[in-house]
Amino acid sequence: MSELSVSGCSLFELDVKGDELGSLVAIERATGLPFDIQRAYYIFGTRADQSRGFHAHRDLQQWVICLAGSCTFRLDDGSNVSEFLLDRRDTALQIGSWVWREMHNFSPDCVLLVLASAPYSPTDYIRDYDEFCAEVRHQS
Ligand code: TYD
Repeated sequence: MSELSVSGCSLFELDVKGDELGSLVAIERATGLPFDIQRAYYIFGTRADQSRGFHAHRDLQQWVICLAGSCTFRLDDGSNVSEFLLDRRDTALQIGSWVWREMHNFSPDCVLLVLASAPYSPTDYIRDYDEFCAEVRHQS
């Protein structure tokens, strides 16, 4: 696992079972997932000129796996920013609570799988960056 400079975020190397039939990755607590999955969703049909995200969560752990293609993630904990290309099938991006995330530069074939620790809750979202910064400051 490699920690990112952004609080609560890291890149986790997944164990790939590969043979002449292809590759398979299994994800469960025993293989390193640090939360119970309450929700899974996936994002596809994105456009290179349309970015997504622009929000943070107050109480949510997520693993993001890029199943096809690539996109650029920009993560921000209010103090540190990390920007990188997510383009590997054998890597999970862990994003904790209180992290502002943006996704840019989607390749046309990009498919993102997201595993989440809680059901969908619109009230858990912070969609205003200034409000996010104010709430993060209030936390510390
Ligand atoms: P949103 O989280 O804003 O997507 P992104 O951050 O990738 O741009 O969600 C887009 C829409 O989908 C929004 O109307 C809420 C809805 N949605 C659900 O109904 N359930 C979910 O689990 C998620 C993540 C989104």
